[in-house]
Amino acid sequence: MQIRPATAADLDAFLDVMSISFGVSNRRPNVHTWVAAQPGGHLLVAERDGRVVATGSGIGFGPTAWIGAIAVRPEARGERLGQRMTEAVIEALGERETLLLLASPSGRPIYERMGFEPDGAYRVFSGPAHAQAAIGDGVRPATEADREGILALDALATGEDRSAAVGAALDGALVTDGGAGLRPPFPARPILASDPDAGRALLAATIEPGIRLAAPQANVPAVEALIAHGCEERHGVVRMRRGAPVAWRPELLWGVFSLFFG
Ligand SMILES: CC(C)(COP(=O)(O)OP(=O)(O)OC[C@H]1O[C@@H](n2cnc3c(N)ncnc32)[C@H](O)[C@@H]1OP(=O)(O)O)[C@@H](O)C(=O)NCCC(=O)NCCS
Repeated sequence: MQIRPATAADLDAFLDVMSISFGVSNRRPNVHTWVAAQPGGHLLVAERDGRVVATGSGIGFGPTAWIGAIAVRPEARGERLGQRMTEAVIEALGERETLLLLASPSGRPIYERMGFEPDGAYRVFSGPAHAQAAIGDGVRPATEADREGILALDALATGEDRSAAVGAALDGALVTDGGAGLRPPFPARPILASDPDAGRALLAATIEPGIRLAAPQANVPAVEALIAHGCEERHGVVRMRRGAPVAWRPELLWGVFSLFFG
């Protein structure tokens, strides 16, 4: 058994393990294919007898870094491979002040054993089949002049420097007073809003059938808006942290890039 960086030739197998393990189809492009192309991104695979049996990934945003895609093929489970993969991702990420991740119920014991602590929760929904985006008054396409304001809002909401992810999501983004609805180069609708009216307007403007939408449980107006739109609640994930606390503002997060780095 060998844990090693994934090559381009491993991507299909990587996504297969993810799809089987999380019970959702992981087609391209997705957050992992985007991370694979980033200088601070790491995709790892565990290979046994020429077959990819486990996956893991990590992305660094300077002092903070996220761990994601920890998954083991069902027939390879029960050997602590998930923990070994998590350790390998942490090693690949190098020295960081804070490690973060979003844990599923089956993943959580691994991270607790490794010293991660709960740091909030996210509720995960999918856009209803009848969803139809409605661009209301005051919502307009973002321009280059909005870049700095959007980056500052993301930094305020997350307490992190996610400028690589945000910068890749400005083409096609929408803005309104106090908020931005981002367009990453994979299917996701991250939303940042400094007041609930902006969050509600951007959610209405970006909702799509079947799209994954998740918001921190602490953002009560966002969760209420998702439910009011008829979104179907899928499951929940617990945000976990190891290292220095991060000054994030969950009430400003109305939608995520992914269940990888929030
Ligand atoms: C979470 C996951 C990666 C852990 O896999 P793993 O490394 O094989 O897990 P472990 O060896 O640590 O075993 C964990 C538990 O799985 C159960 N388990 C043991 N053998 C198993 C087997 N053959 N098949 C299924 N489950 C088994 C046991 O309850 C075990 O708990 P225990 O160690 O306290 O007895 C794997 O369950 C998975 O891919 N889950 C779906 C994707 C997911 O949720 N990933 C985590 C995202 S945060």
